[in-house]
Amino acid sequence: MCGIMAYIGDKPAKNIVYNGLKRLEYRGYDSVGIATLGETLKVVKAVGDTSKLNLNLIDSRAKLAIGHTRWATHGEPSKNNAHPHTYGSITLVHNGIIENYETIKKTIKATDLKSQTDSEVLAALIDYYYQKSQDILEATRQALSEVKGTFGIALITKDNPEILIVARRGSPILIGIGNNQYFIASDQSAILDHTNQVIYLEDDQLAEIKPSSIDIYDLKLSVQDIDIKTLDNDSKNLDLGDYQNFLEKEIYEQPEALNNVMRGRVSSDGSIVLGGPNLTQADILNLKQILIIGCGSAYYAGYYGKYVLEKILNIPVSVEHASEFRYRYGAFNKENCLAIFISQSGETADTIASLREAKRRGLKTIGIVNSVGSTIAREVTHGGIYLHAGNESSVASTKAYSSMVVALLMLGGFMSYKQGKDSAICQNIASELLKLPNEIYLSLQLHSKITKLSKQITKFNDCFYLGRGVLYAVAQEGALKLSEVAQVHAQALPIGEIKHGPIALVDNNLLSVILLPEDNLLYNKGLSTLEEVKARNGQVLTISTRPKEPLSDFHLQLSHLGEFSDGLIYNVSLQLLTLELAKNKRLNIDRPRNLAKSVTVE
Ligand code: F6R
Repeated sequence: MCGIMAYIGDKPAKNIVYNGLKRLEYRGYDSVGIATLGETLKVVKAVGDTSKLNLNLIDSRAKLAIGHTRWATHGEPSKNNAHPHTYGSITLVHNGIIENYETIKKTIKATDLKSQTDSEVLAALIDYYYQKSQDILEATRQALSEVKGTFGIALITKDNPEILIVARRGSPILIGIGNNQYFIASDQSAILDHTNQVIYLEDDQLAEIKPSSIDIYDLKLSVQDIDIKTLDNDSKNLDLGDYQNFLEKEIYEQPEALNNVMRGRVSSDGSIVLGGPNLTQADILNLKQILIIGCGSAYYAGYYGKYVLEKILNIPVSVEHASEFRYRYGAFNKENCLAIFISQSGETADTIASLREAKRRGLKTIGIVNSVGSTIAREVTHGGIYLHAGNESSVASTKAYSSMVVALLMLGGFMSYKQGKDSAICQNIASELLKLPNEIYLSLQLHSKITKLSKQITKFNDCFYLGRGVLYAVAQEGALKLSEVAQVHAQALPIGEIKHGPIALVDNNLLSVILLPEDNLLYNKGLSTLEEVKARNGQVLTISTRPKEPLSDFHLQLSHLGEFSDGLIYNVSLQLLTLELAKNKRLNIDRPRNLAKSVTVE
């Protein structure tokens, strides 16, 4: 959510920052800007994405630049509200929210602000102290000590093209290290072309960076140790290749992503070994409650996990929206409750806040995270599982979601084995998982059929997604994807709930997508809902491992693998359907309106 890219070094900075911003655009794309500092300060801004910037207006030779791609919080998307913001001697880019900006504005009597943003107020506050001390590090320290809220910032002073200051609280900042050059970014995708050596700035740290040196401080200006990490990703999956959009590319990358998350963990002898979670056998045997916490698709992956973990571990599992959990009063016994935090980015503000709340309550915490070295991965108490799904560029999550579900299935198999349960459970999960990448590959072959189907249902603007058990979890994920990417209003319901109210909405204009399971009893229960909807003149698309029912209007038949993993095969068909509906409507597939990936503000 908002992307920051900055550079200081011995090379021209403009294109490095511009190309980095292009990689970060999925974090926000309503306005954009770059400031270069050479002999003079030059700033260019535009409404829209990076393609709207006139790069001729900034300095091609400057070796210091800061840039920003915005997802609006305070103030509409406009040139004035776009970053960088200059106030007095300070030019700054900011990701986060300054909660006390109104108070600050009054205290420092900043009356000549040009934008409606909290970020410009922060620039004014830093300038206020800078005018007194002429010391940029001290001025930033003083200002940040007064600020309430979250920030990732990069700032320069017009007087000194040899100093770049960066700081963070809540919003990620990482610093890539090259030869006599530093690359600052909100996430690694922006810097992977240049270096794999990085420093993750921690909360309330600020760094003073010169072309050939870096010093990191806390907010009392005590010098901090520098811990350099090596990124294990490379930049190869950051480009589109032959695909038209990243969503399609990432849907097609799922077989590979699933092989990656299982590599070295699931074996053909039926064992599942996870080295990441630091849970002893006693920890697992003592467990009486599991919480799964995340947002959006990560939450829905958790929902899928809930059904499986409860069944095989015989422990109650509740799934919590991180935005709720962080403020929730609940009775959790710290001795025997495990909280699992799921996040692709590892930087989602609500999930981080919930993790800190869970730690405050003394719970054991593990992470299921894609982004290596991210805040959640670093802050969990008992390790976790990295997804190794590679970069996910499209705003809507696809391959990370599937990998999260597989990680939860592996965790279930692993824990049931440690519980001393019948080893057949773990073996069954392992055997299904090993076949899953190929099954997903085969279900991608349904693409042309789904394209045809999409043409028949593009007319519907309202949908119910109905399922039971893991297929209810899949219905939730499918409805989210349809709403955000294809801009079709979609509501997921447990199939049995429709007659308790929502059926009032059923008519010829509403499409009910019914996910019918393989299981005989539940399949037949699902058929009753099909009949009830048809009796009210509703339109129905059934998706099932069995052939078409005479009553259904549209049908998609899928292959059957097993009770644990079938849901992911259904999910791929829903992903492809969403993709094709969005194409039919000529929407921006990778950057749906009003959205941004990695929601680092509350
Ligand atoms: C939906 C989507 C979002 C994210 C959510 C959590 O397609 O991508 O709902 O799943 O913002 O993000 P992470 O997983 O980064 O915590």
